[in-house]
Amino acid sequence: MKRTVEDLANLKGKVVLLRVDFNVPLDEGGKILDATRIMQSLPTIKYLIEKQAKVVLISHLGRPEGYDIRKSLWPIALILMRLLPTSVYFSNKAIGKEVEERIKHMKNGDVLLLENIRFYEGEASCDMNFAKEIAKLGDVFVNDAFGVAHREHATTYGIARIMPNAIGFLMKKEITALQGAVENPKHPFVVIIGGAKVKGKIKFIMKLLEVADTLIIGGAMAYTFLVASGYSVGQSIIYDDSVEYARDILNIAYSQGKKILLPIDHVCIRENSKKKKPIVVSNLIDDMVAYDIGPKTIKLFKDEINQAKQILWNGPLGKYEDERFIGGTKEIAKAIASSKAYSIVGGGDSVSAIKKIGCENKIDLISTGGGATLKFIENDTLPCIDVIQEKIKL
Ligand code: 3PG
Repeated sequence: MKRTVEDLANLKGKVVLLRVDFNVPLDEGGKILDATRIMQSLPTIKYLIEKQAKVVLISHLGRPEGYDIRKSLWPIALILMRLLPTSVYFSNKAIGKEVEERIKHMKNGDVLLLENIRFYEGEASCDMNFAKEIAKLGDVFVNDAFGVAHREHATTYGIARIMPNAIGFLMKKEITALQGAVENPKHPFVVIIGGAKVKGKIKFIMKLLEVADTLIIGGAMAYTFLVASGYSVGQSIIYDDSVEYARDILNIAYSQGKKILLPIDHVCIRENSKKKKPIVVSNLIDDMVAYDIGPKTIKLFKDEINQAKQILWNGPLGKYEDERFIGGTKEIAKAIASSKAYSIVGGGDSVSAIKKIGCENKIDLISTGGGATLKFIENDTLPCIDVIQEKIKL
């Protein structure tokens, strides 16, 4: 078991470097479109404030190449000022004398957010000199950034190698829930996978096949699976390099007696039609391009979801960003939210679908990880978790 923030004694007056994942979607004007990751970081921040630590927050935002005002964390500092019961400051630098001075003047229980750590080259390259520069700002490092725990960067990984460390409440919650779901699943365990590419999710699917009873496949990747099963998909998008993988997954699943559900009808458009009006069909032929699952498929998937005791959902069931093709994703999201099963939803698109229909409170774990959730399930751990000290048994 990893050491957690609650195992750290005498935090009063200590400078805690808290790595969070504030990589939230912003619109062009810097408005935050989804604050889930900020909200989920609050328990650890508030705990440290209560313990009278000096909290220095470190995060990345996007993938800037050098300084980029559009990727500044300043809008997030403004949000934190409203959410936290203490003084929140912002530093437009993350290392150097100026930052050291600011920290020196912090009072116990104050919060200081450092500017986007990816403005510095040393972050992504895990430059240990850069990690040392950051480490010298504080007394202890707490990692609560589950969403980026698959990246060995200076402030997610390097820094943990050179200073006392622990994980935060969000990290603990994600690890416990995801580990429990895979190691000790409740049956029937139904896994719903959508999204576009099969290739990036092969290990993830294989791992889940070992423990799940039913695999439901929707979204753009379903057409690759349908082709692998010998069906025509018209002009729907398929990834040629993934058909073989899909075939392997199907063969393994069938040989293990697992149930695999693929779409049986589709909402599609005819590419050559003038109006490009969505129609529902059972067989995709000629110029038809499918963008969503049809009503019969929704019923088929819902019946399975209703019988589940545990559900894991990753990836939308259709091109849900287009209102005409949101139906499948919305209906499945509703079915998961109203089921009595223990439910985990991961991946930005599935989470935002759940939020769109206002059901986030009915989901047991909304995972803040995209790639991190996939990698955690594949490998049972992540590098930035491994590097944290074990709890010392007394
Ligand atoms: C995410 O959004 O998945 C994490 O914040 C990691 O971001 P990255 O893929 O840019 O490293």
